[in-house]
Parts: sequence; C-alpha cells; structure tokens
Amino acid sequence: PVLVVDYGAQYAQLIARRVREAQVYSEVVPHDTPVSEMVARDPAAIVLSGGPSSVYAEGAPQVDPELFNAGVPVFGICYGFQAMTSALGGTVEHTGTREYGRTEVEISGDGGRLHNDLPGHHPVWMSHGDSVSKAPEGFQVTAGTKDTPVAAYENIERRLAGVQYHPEVVHSPHGQEVLRRFLHEIAGVRPQWTTSSIVDDTVAAIREQIGDRRAICGLSGGVDSAVAAALVQRAIGDQLTCVFVDHGLLRAGERAQVERDFVAATGVKLVTIDAVDRFLGALSGVTDPEEKRKIIGREFIRVFEQAARDLQAEAGAAGEQIDFLVQGTLYPDVVESGGGSGAANIKSHHNVGGLPDDLQFSLVEPLRALFKDEVRRVGLELGLPETIVHRQPFPGPGLGIRIIGEVTADRLETLRAADAIAREELTAAGLDRDIWQCPVVLLADVRSVGVQGDGRTYGHPVVLRPVSSEDAMTADWTRLPYDVLEQISTRITNEVPDVNRVTLDVTSKPPGTIEWE
Ligand code: XMP
Repeated sequence: PVLVVDYGAQYAQLIARRVREAQVYSEVVPHDTPVSEMVARDPAAIVLSGGPSSVYAEGAPQVDPELFNAGVPVFGICYGFQAMTSALGGTVEHTGTREYGRTEVEISGDGGRLHNDLPGHHPVWMSHGDSVSKAPEGFQVTAGTKDTPVAAYENIERRLAGVQYHPEVVHSPHGQEVLRRFLHEIAGVRPQWTTSSIVDDTVAAIREQIGDRRAICGLSGGVDSAVAAALVQRAIGDQLTCVFVDHGLLRAGERAQVERDFVAATGVKLVTIDAVDRFLGALSGVTDPEEKRKIIGREFIRVFEQAARDLQAEAGAAGEQIDFLVQGTLYPDVVESGGGSGAANIKSHHNVGGLPDDLQFSLVEPLRALFKDEVRRVGLELGLPETIVHRQPFPGPGLGIRIIGEVTADRLETLRAADAIAREELTAAGLDRDIWQCPVVLLADVRSVGVQGDGRTYGHPVVLRPVSSEDAMTADWTRLPYDVLEQISTRITNEVPDVNRVTLDVTSKPPGTIEWE
C-alpha cells in the first residue's frame, strides 16, 4: 500500500481517498508509527500529511530522518513538507506571515516532474504559518508564492518530493494531477486499484474466510449493507441469508426496493420480518426523541436476534450452523476507532443497530478497506440498481425521528406521502447528486390554520430540510431552485391530507443537526 501518515488534522483521510482516485491502494497510519514498522509493510510510497502544528512547537511530531534512508518514495504535504525539510537538513522559518486559503503559485524553471506543463501561475490552497526558506541539499525548487520562496521541491533520484500547499482539496485545481505524477511518475507505482480489482480481491478474501460455512446479513436498505451483502452473495451464493426487518418506519417503496430490486439484482436469499405492529406498539405514547431512538434500537436488536436464532435452528436441524455475521463497516469507521494500521481487536462499528457480542458470530466486513464512493462504485459494478446505490442516507430509526410528537400509523402515512413527493420532485429536477439528503419532517404536534377551496383547514406543517455535505459531520442548507420548492409545496399541500403548510429549514450544521430529533 501507499501509507498516509496522519499528523492529526482532518486531511489524512482525504489524501488517502485522493491516492485511491489515482488508482493506488492507500492506508492511513498514525504519525507515531515507527519507521521500521512502516518499512516492514513494504509501502510503495509514503505520504506525510498536513497537520495543525508548527514544527517549532513543543512536542510537535517530527519525521524520523531514517525514513529517507529506507529507499521508499516520500511525498510531504504542508506540515509533512516542513517536517521533511527539517529532517533532511533544509530550513523552516517562523516568518510570522500566515498564508491561508487561495494563493497563487508561480512555477520556477521547467517546473520539474511535478509541475511541468502546468500553467505558470495557478491557484492552490494554503494553510500554514511557518515556511520553508531553504530546500534540503540536492533538491530542485519548482514553485514558490509571494510569501513562500519554496512551495514545492523534488529530488527525482531519491524519489522524494513535497509541496507546501494542499493538493488534496478541490481548491487546488491541479492538485490531483500533481499527486498522480508523484505516485505514477516519481514513485513509479502502478495504477492497479480499480473497481473490478476491488471486487475480485474482496470476493476471493470472503471465500477464503467463510469457506463452505454459512453467514447472515442484516439489510437496512442502505447502501453499505446492500453492497456488503452483494459481495458476500457473489462469493458464497446460497450460503448467505439476508434478513430485512420492516419496522414500519420506512419510506414509501423501500421494502419493495429491497424485496424486489435487490433480490433481482443479486439473487440473494432474503427473509423479511414484518414487525410493524411490534414497533408501533412499543412507540405508542412516546414523544421524547432519545426515548424513541432507544426503543427503536432495542426492538430492532430483539427482532434481528430472534430471526437469527430461527435461522440458526433451521440450519442446525440440517446440521449446519451459521458462523458468520456480515457487517457493512467502512474504512473511515476503522480509522476512527484506531485501527488504521490494520491492528487486531478493533472495536467493531455496528451499523445494523448495535448488535450484542453474545450473538456468537464471527464478523465478515467486506467494506472495511473502502471509502463510501468506492462502495458505491463496487455496488454498480456488481449490478445493483442506481436507486439503491445512490440512495440518500437514511437514519436507522427511520421516519420515527422525523415525526415531532408521538409516532402513529396515520402520521407515518402522512409523512410517507409528503416524503415521497419531495423525493420524486428532487429526482425529476436532477438534483439527487447535488444534495446530500433532504429529510421531510412532520410537525405532528403543531397545527396551523389554512384555507383551501372555500373552507378553513386546521392541519400540520411539514419542514423540508435539504442539506449539502461531504460526510454529514458538517452541512449547509441547500439553495434549492424556487421553482422546485414551489412544485414540492404545491403538490404536498394538494395531495397530502392533513398537511396545509410547507416550510424550509435554512439552518446549517452546526448549529442545527441534519435530523430534527
Ligand atoms: P445528524 O442529525 O446527527 O445526522 O446531523 C447526521 C447523519 O446521520 C444520519 N443519522 C443516523 N443514521 N442511525 C443512522 O444510521 C441513526 O440513529 C442516525 N441519526 C442520524 C442522518 O440521517 C444524517 O445523514
């Protein structure tokens, strides 16, 4: 792999993704990983990421100079560029001038391997206080800015290079090309990480792990569990059984999408558990959001466990135990729980609702090495329909946390109808890829006066919550075109009984969360 050394800012994962976009497999490792350990993993290259520190700050993470004697190609970015400079005997100065945001770089000479043929002046994204004032001996300086004489350098023979700016962010329009040139041309790594190679390797690994034994997988209707199940199905066929719990808090068409489209695309063996009454019974009279979440989570686990036991009993009678549980854990979850270097005993992230450990299954996590965009591409490669692969994220507790007030069958029906209209219109307007998601929230405990035809109405408002986001940690409200909003509003108020007002949530996150509860 290419190892991306994490200096503690939010950039390492983004860099790892960009490396993979150059079709090279990458993993994130903490900055205190010893050089010997990194080298032992036989990395094709090492990228030192940006970080929040100043190389002068007390306790700032340094780069062990040994790294540069290991014969491994190294690319330093921002803080990594400065730490590399110090380790190699160049000079980093505390100039007092900060460069932050969009900055112009000027290419010097022929631009070297990294910047050759790129526009002589072009914008890059900067974020630093210290600056490199002198490159290490033997390095060619290939770019500078108004305030930073050394913004890029390279030593082709030693396969070492670095840039002061952030090539990984979209505000550096040539950044991806520069990173690609480092990987392919300076480090000489071959681009082999493609969607079809991911599918082939993963399927082989699953076969190896499961052999001729059996597995189950909980489907949520979301992208991750669907793609995980499809990969395992590709690997072991009928030895996999999927369980889908219909808790009655699903959106319109969701159950059919799983039962029909997913099964048609994969041929998976599917058991649907109808648990609508059970969930509505448990939620009856409950209005507190946290209590709703707890109840839904708890009931989900009970139903899933029961289904697993039933399957186990059936299988057991036939003499075959179920040994494996498939989970759609993604790489960011693995990195965030400290397992970036592939270390053992990582806390498993349960996205099927926190399944207890005493279920006694070994975990199969076919998406453990993948980012979300890779998961979507794998899904398409496996023939899953766009409607599943490009689904908006949908919370585990479903529509239960989008009804402000008690959850009842009638209210669910109302919200489901309004939500279906909003989704239909957003899709028709071609906006699905522009928004991250657009929850529709029913203010069931609020009433508003309206007039329709000749009569007074006294109904409920719904809220549209369109947001744009990269990862749901932060979000901005999406400026939807007025004509699309108008169309959604007209249709909902005309077609959904009980709703006489449509409002728009114009709050970013923070301070508002994406969901209302
Ligand atoms: P918030 O409301 O915290 O939501 O800004 C961030 C993202 O997470 C989704 N979400 C959930 N997903 N189980 C899930 O699987 C949950 O309990 C849950 N709560 C929120 C939400 O839809 C958004 O994409």
